[in-house]
Amino acid sequence: MSEPTLYERLGGEERIRAIANTIFDKHLANPVVKQRYVESVREEVIPKLVDFLGEGTGGPQKYTGKDMLTAHRGMNISEQEFLAVLDDIMEALEEHGVGEREQEQLLYANYAMRREIVRV
Ligand code: HEM
Repeated sequence: MSEPTLYERLGGEERIRAIANTIFDKHLANPVVKQRYVESVREEVIPKLVDFLGEGTGGPQKYTGKDMLTAHRGMNISEQEFLAVLDDIMEALEEHGVGEREQEQLLYANYAMRREIVRV
């Protein structure tokens, strides 16, 4: 039998949506990045984030949003902001009881995108 995918280990789409909402809540409350986000974009961004995470972890979703370079180009996102977003992600994973191995995999995958996000 094959190993369950990261998507399955995370608990599928509903659980990923809950985690994405917690991450968004944390961004809105995080002094380092909150000026980048407004509550009104939640409806627009969460479905994209769910598809992005779903596809990226082996789920059936198809992400149709912008690639990371295009999405963040021109925003002049700093290293500090990038780290603040990673902090929010890790806190949300912890609060949702995501396992240590899954947390490590997600941290690595997110960190690996930094060159497409920071100061592009
Ligand atoms: C690994 C870290 C990150 C991931 C995985 C990520 C992922 C995404 C995704 C999937 C989108 C949607 C793209 C689309 O609209 O088609 C997006 C948009 C966006 N991201 Fe990121 N992002 C990351 C880091 C950051 C950072 C560090 C900032 C700034 C502090 C940031 C600010 C934004 C903003 C402002 C938008 C646009 C929201 C809107 O539609 O107005 N992101 N990001």
